[in-house]
Amino acid sequence: MSKICVIGTGYVGLVTGTCFADLGNDVTCLDVDENRIGNLKKGIMPIYEPGLEELVTRNVESGRLCFTTNYAEAVKGADFAFIAVGTPSGGDGEADLQYVRSAAESIADLVNDPIVVVNKSTVPVGTGDWVTEIITKRRAGKPLDFMVVSNPEFLREGSAINDFMFPDRVVLGSSKPEPANAVAQLYEPLRCPIMVTDIRTAEMIKYASNAFLATKISFINEIANMCEEMGANVSEVSRGMGYDHRIGTHFIDAGLGWGGSCFPKDVKALAHMAVLHGTHPQLLQAVIEINRNQRRRVVLKLRKALGSLDDKVIGILGISFKPNTDDIRDAPSLEVIHLLQNEGAVIQVYDPQAMENAKKEVKRVKFCENPYQVADGADALILATEWNEFKQIDFKKIHALMRQHIILDGRNLWNPELVRSQGFKYYDIGRGTNGETE
Ligand SMILES: NC(=O)c1ccc[n+]([C@@H]2O[C@H](COP(=O)([O-])OP(=O)(O)OC[C@H]3O[C@@H](n4cnc5c(N)ncnc54)[C@H](O)[C@@H]3O)[C@@H](O)[C@H]2O)c1
Repeated sequence: MSKICVIGTGYVGLVTGTCFADLGNDVTCLDVDENRIGNLKKGIMPIYEPGLEELVTRNVESGRLCFTTNYAEAVKGADFAFIAVGTPSGGDGEADLQYVRSAAESIADLVNDPIVVVNKSTVPVGTGDWVTEIITKRRAGKPLDFMVVSNPEFLREGSAINDFMFPDRVVLGSSKPEPANAVAQLYEPLRCPIMVTDIRTAEMIKYASNAFLATKISFINEIANMCEEMGANVSEVSRGMGYDHRIGTHFIDAGLGWGGSCFPKDVKALAHMAVLHGTHPQLLQAVIEINRNQRRRVVLKLRKALGSLDDKVIGILGISFKPNTDDIRDAPSLEVIHLLQNEGAVIQVYDPQAMENAKKEVKRVKFCENPYQVADGADALILATEWNEFKQIDFKKIHALMRQHIILDGRNLWNPELVRSQGFKYYDIGRGTNGETE
């Protein structure tokens, strides 16, 4: 049993803290957001993540997990301080490290006993050394016995607990074996490959992994656009490629492109880092550009289908950047909504979990209670997120409610024949559909 303090109770911090508690450790999760901690103390989750609430409740009741806003209380006697604060995009695409700095300064100011500082936030290469420097400088008069370990997180929102408990690998970056071995002990019950590297390599593994996954998606979207022009079917192309073990089946589904709290900011941050170090990240720049264009192509397709979009009513199914999360950070749906509004379209939306977050972010839209309200009076429907509940939607009912019968399936979720047979003009991404009805 170790005493662990987790700094930041977002998707990563809350899942990390709760899972380590579930493995038998004594965990205090800390956040500067009083409202968030107040709610967590009452059992109210700040995020939607399947299975999280139950796991938090169980571990709070067992006395292994608690929440606080008080740094001194959280770090007192802790063997490990995990930094899991946000690292959003700065103005120029760089990672904004203000929250990491603030966490490091608080550790420097309040920790007295030996501690391993574990950086779980996704941070630019070199940040581990920078955090060491911040703490060392701040404790110049009264040196602290500490080491920094980089431990990038690879969990996916929507399956975060499972990903944490059954990781493909754990990566630990450290300049000395002892602190890495100490952190490795925490993960030992997960019986997964644990890779120990130097700190900078560990930091790069995280960025390179995300950039590679984003590249796969942008690649297949570029192929999808070619398929549209050349009369091929991208879903079949993906399947045919995916049988090849060197390629694999994951992350080669065409659609509206990648979004979320990680890929966009991480690809941009890596490209920014590359330029700062004198290399030319031309592949990453293309990956970003293809993704941006993928969102814009939706507007082109709708213009083709509807003519002017002024005063047209467009329904959007799904707002979150992917299913099973309420996270809407950099979701493709948001940009699509914005572009359509710019052309004068009237927007109505529904998402199974992301409505509260959307209400804070999206203006001048009608928020609906279900997919059928979204269809009511609409000239076109766009499927932006492939939530389960949209998979077997009642197309007959939708048809009866819509003013014009145009569907743009941004995730290639539906069977084109089936949708067409219900009297819709159906468009998707790269499967050879072009608004034909049966
Ligand atoms: N969300 C993901 O799926 C995911 C996956 C892998 C890695 N990551 C990385 O993990 C990090 C955290 O991501 P997230 O999505 O959990 O972030 P988040 O925005 O959901 O949560 C961050 C939390 O940190 C808190 N915070 C900010 N400054 C603080 C401070 N000084 N002290 C204490 N708490 C503070 C915020 O109040 C917030 O609750 C990021 O670097 C991200 O890139 C995220």
